[in-house]
Amino acid sequence: MASVTTSSGIIRKNILWLSAFIMAVLIIPHNAVGQDNFITNIQNRTTQSLNGKWKYVMDQYETGQIGFSPIYRNAKPKDKSDRVEYSFDYAQNLWVPGSWNSQKEALYYYEGSIWYRKTFDFQPKLKNSRVFIYVGAANYKTTYTFNGRRLGYHEGGFTPFSFEVTNLIKDKDNFLILGVSNSRESDYIPGKVTDWYNHGGITRDVYLVEVPQTYIDDYFLYLDKASLNSKKKTIQGSIQLKGKDLPDHATISIPELKISKEVKLDENGAAKFTLESGKLSLWSPENPKLYKVTLKAGDDEISDKIGFRTIETKGKEILLNGEPIFLRGISIHDENPIRRDRAHSIDDAKLVLGWTKELGCNFARLAHYPHQENIVRLADEMGILLWEELPLYWGIEWSNDKVLEKAKTQYSEMIRRDKNRASSIIWSIANETGPTKARNAFLTAVAHHVREQDPTRLLSAACKKDQAVDGHPDSTYVVSDPIGKELDIISFNEYLGWYGGSPLECRKKTFVIDYDKPVIVSEFGGGAIQGFHADSLTRWSEEYQEFMYKENIAMFDRVPGLSGMTPWILVDFMSPLRQLPDVQDGWNRKGLVSETGAKKKAFYILQDYYKRKKKEYQK
Ligand code: GCU
Repeated sequence: MASVTTSSGIIRKNILWLSAFIMAVLIIPHNAVGQDNFITNIQNRTTQSLNGKWKYVMDQYETGQIGFSPIYRNAKPKDKSDRVEYSFDYAQNLWVPGSWNSQKEALYYYEGSIWYRKTFDFQPKLKNSRVFIYVGAANYKTTYTFNGRRLGYHEGGFTPFSFEVTNLIKDKDNFLILGVSNSRESDYIPGKVTDWYNHGGITRDVYLVEVPQTYIDDYFLYLDKASLNSKKKTIQGSIQLKGKDLPDHATISIPELKISKEVKLDENGAAKFTLESGKLSLWSPENPKLYKVTLKAGDDEISDKIGFRTIETKGKEILLNGEPIFLRGISIHDENPIRRDRAHSIDDAKLVLGWTKELGCNFARLAHYPHQENIVRLADEMGILLWEELPLYWGIEWSNDKVLEKAKTQYSEMIRRDKNRASSIIWSIANETGPTKARNAFLTAVAHHVREQDPTRLLSAACKKDQAVDGHPDSTYVVSDPIGKELDIISFNEYLGWYGGSPLECRKKTFVIDYDKPVIVSEFGGGAIQGFHADSLTRWSEEYQEFMYKENIAMFDRVPGLSGMTPWILVDFMSPLRQLPDVQDGWNRKGLVSETGAKKKAFYILQDYYKRKKKEYQK
C-alpha cells in the first residue's frame, strides 16, 4: 500500500541510508586488494571440494553490501512482520565452477554482481588444523564473507585467492557467501573493452583447505643454468614457512635422484638451498620428465611433480637446455567452446591441448590472462611449453598508480601459482598497447617486478609493428617498440591480409626488427566459417583463411631471428565484439577449429609447416 511520506521522513530515511553506506564501505575494514599469499599447490593439500550447486541472489545495482542487512548476512525474517528483501533459501542454483552466463538464458549478457552461497558442515581431517577457503578464480572482483562476516575482497578474474576461517568455522551449518561482480571498469585489468566474452562468476574450483598451525607456504626449485653442461647438476631452491612456532629446519627430498637434504631455516622460517644431483633427465617437449619432490617442515609435508630444464636466449636464438629451439605454437583462450563456458576441468585442458598436440605444437600462448591451473600442470606432463600473460591489453589506465599495483599483485599471484611448472617459459607483460610515455613507464615497472619475482624465465610482450615509419618503403614493416629493451624476446601481432591489405601483399613484405633478440610472431590469422567453401579471395571461406596462412607463414618465415609463432587462434571463441549475422553471431571465427570441434583447412597448412620446422631443428 503506498504510504504518504513527509519531507522530514524522506530526509531521515536518506540519512539512515547514507550512514549505513558509510559504515559498510568506509568503516568496516577490507583486506588489501589481491591476496598474493593464497595456499599454493592446492592439488596436494588436505582439501574438501566445495564445488557443486550454490544458491544465488542477483545484485545488479551492487547495493548488496550496504544497508542494515547486507546480503552476506544470510538474514531470514524473524517473524511474520519482519522485512528481509532477499532469500538464499528460496533462490535458484548456479553450478560452481562455471560462468553464470552459460548457465541461465537470463544471465547470458549479465554484467553486475551475484552473491553465491554454499552451506556445509565441517569435520576436520587434520588435528588442530588451520582452515582456509581457496578459490581458483572468480571474475572479476570478489567480496568474500564467512558465517556473516565480511573478510575482504580480491580483484582479478584469473588468479587464485584464499582466506582463513579457522576462528569462524563451526561443525554445523556454515555458510560461505561470495559476492562476485563482472562489471567492466576502465581502472581494471583488463580495461573496459576486450575481444573475448566477459564470463562472470566463480569460474574455477573452490576448496576448503586444512594446513597445520605452521605450514609450508611457498617453495621454488629450478635447475641452475651454470650446471647444465656439467655431470653434476645443481638445483637451486627456496622454501618459506608460515605460522607461529617456526621449526629450525626443513627436509627436501627427490627420491629418484637419491637426494634428501636438511636445510636450516632462518628466524622467519625461510631458507635458500642448493641440491647436487648426479645424472638428471632434463625436462623437454620430447621428454617431459617430472620428478616427485617432497618438502617436510614441522608438522607439514607436501609433494609436487617438478621438471628441471633451462631456458635462455643467445643472440637471436632461444635455447632450451642449451639447444636452439623453434617454438611451434598456437594461441588459446581459456574457454570450452562446446560448453560455451570458461574452461575449468582437466577434461577441458585435455580437449585443447589434444588439438594443440595434433597440430604438431611444442608451444602454446595462454592468451590473454592466466589460464586454469589444470592446463599448466597438464602441459608439464604433455611437454608443451607455455607463454603466460596478464590482460594488460589494449586500453589500460597507464597513469594510474593503483592500476600498476593491481598489475604487480596479479603478476605475483600468477608467478606464485606457476613458478614450479617447467612448461612455463615466458611471462608476457602486455598485448597490443601503444608506446606512450605513461605505458612505457608502467610496463618497465611491471617488467622489473616480474623479473624480481622470477629471474629464471624470459620476458616478452605482444607488440605492434610501427604504424608509419619514415624512410621505409611500404613494403617493409619495422618493429621498434621502446619496451623491447626490457624484453628477452621481441614479439608482435600482424594481420596483413585480414586487417588491411590482401594476402598477396605478403609476398613483397620484409621486416626490420630493431633488436638483436629472438622474435616470436605472437598473432596472425583470419576468420573462416567452418564448412563454408569458395575461392581463395572470398572472405570468411575456409579457402581464404587457408590462403592467408600460406602467404603469412611464408612471409614470417623470412623475419630475421624468427624463433617461434603463436597464430591466432586454435579454436573459435565467444566475443561480444563479433556480431556479423550468419557469420560471427557473437563468435570470433579466427579459430583453426570451430566451436563444435571441426577442423578448418588452414589447420593442415600450419600442421605441415610445423612438420617442416620440427625436421629443420632436429639434431
Ligand atoms: C588482436 C587481439 C586479440 C583479438 C585479435 C582479433 O590482436 O590481440 O585478442 O582477438 O586481434 O582481432 O581477432
